[in-house]
Amino acid sequence: MKIALGADHGGFTLKEIIKKHLVEKGIEVIDKGTHSLESVDYPFYARAVAYSVLEKESDYGIIVCGTGIGISIAANRIKGIRAGLCFNTTMARLTREHNDANILALGARTTGDVVALDIVDEFLKTEFQGGRHLTRIQEIEL
Ligand code: RB5
Repeated sequence: MKIALGADHGGFTLKEIIKKHLVEKGIEVIDKGTHSLESVDYPFYARAVAYSVLEKESDYGIIVCGTGIGISIAANRIKGIRAGLCFNTTMARLTREHNDANILALGARTTGDVVALDIVDEFLKTEFQGGRHLTRIQEIEL
């Protein structure tokens, strides 16, 4: 499994924690930046991760900003992207089961590191349920 990571300065530290966690689990990471705490604009990193997923360079993306809101809004503007902003493991499970989310969005200033890693694990291990949910996600693209 390959995971594309992206964050602005607000999400940089949590992105690094997630990267270490995934590498320790033997998961390949493609880091799209940012690479420091210097202030940057989140849409650039949302797009870099989104196109990595759409072009199948990666299986899923994980994006982080201060709240997860701005970067998820930016990612969701791109056709084919379903970015789910999650605050707990229930949301992570359901955004995979029901929305077939291909990107997980996290807020580094609103979600603690330990919870964030639990969310990442739940997101990556959960399969899409298909069926009626497939019809619904297809309708998003109409
Ligand atoms: C950056 O200060 C902050 O606005 C950004 O990380 C994010 O929270 C936006 O939604």
